[in-house]
Amino acid sequence: RLGTRVERLPLARYTTIGVGGEAEIWFVETLEALAEAVEQPYRILGGGSNLVIDDSGVPERVIRLSGPLAKADLTPDPELSDPASGLIVTGWVGGGTPLPGLLRKLQALGWSNLEGTVGIPGQVGGSVWMNAGTRFGEMFDGLHTIEIVTPQGVRQVTPDDLNWGYRNSDIPRGHIISRVRLKLQQSTPEAVRERMEQADAARKGQPKMKTPGCAFKNPGGVSAGLLIDRAGLKGEQIGQARIAPEHGNFIVNLGGATAADVLGLLRLVRGRLAPELSGPLELEYEIWP
Ligand code: EPU
Repeated sequence: RLGTRVERLPLARYTTIGVGGEAEIWFVETLEALAEAVEQPYRILGGGSNLVIDDSGVPERVIRLSGPLAKADLTPDPELSDPASGLIVTGWVGGGTPLPGLLRKLQALGWSNLEGTVGIPGQVGGSVWMNAGTRFGEMFDGLHTIEIVTPQGVRQVTPDDLNWGYRNSDIPRGHIISRVRLKLQQSTPEAVRERMEQADAARKGQPKMKTPGCAFKNPGGVSAGLLIDRAGLKGEQIGQARIAPEHGNFIVNLGGATAADVLGLLRLVRGRLAPELSGPLELEYEIWP
């Protein structure tokens, strides 16, 4: 098919924790090919962080944006940008674009608004979907337009159209963020680098091993990692998965962990912290199937 390559592959290769069985992966390069890919049941694979996939894989086709849908056109749009005030609205940035490389380019250009998301390993689409961020900033700090593909068609929305918030874009699960336009502010490479270094320094204590990232959202703004730490759960291990000794909100793969190991730890934490919390501890990870 034009604009699509289909291959059956182990998903463990595409997740940051290195867990996940096989599926048919659709590498999709164009909007037309994407429209075709969503005609049958599908799942969308971003950068594979925040994701725990069962060892038996998934039966649906797994869509991975690639080619032009994984590249960024950073040329300022002349109609939407305003040099006088330093406002830059970019061309289209594919949902499959890796966030770390994009941030390096924005830093070199001295374009501000997204540097607070430094250190997030994912792709643009997934990061927008969950409004990924740190306490220094989040994806919605720098979005102008979001293009969304579903089996019903393509539509473009602005952040104002969405009820977005902390680690949440309000975009339904399974809706594919095919492309975005970024809204940035002209600054200097030095100033952007300085803020990136600040945000980066806050991650120094995080584990270096294979991990999906933070397991739980911070309940009511309190660090979930701190709560897990206080409950004495750091270092707890099931099979080859462990609650990181460095930070309680990370689960790491010691090598050969299974999805069942990871889910066991998530259950353990939820059970142990339930009495302390007024509401449920909300998961940041997506679990397949
Ligand atoms: N703390 C502990 N023990 C722990 C973990 C944390 O005592 O096991 C303490 C820290 O020492 C610090 C406080 O708790 O005083 C807050 O910790 P941290 O600075 O790590 O912030 P966090 O709220 O736990 C958030 C994000 C991280 C992001 C960091 C740094 C969430 C759920 N977590 O963690 O994001 O990397 O700030 O900016 O929002 C992610 O989203 O995947 C993620 C890891």
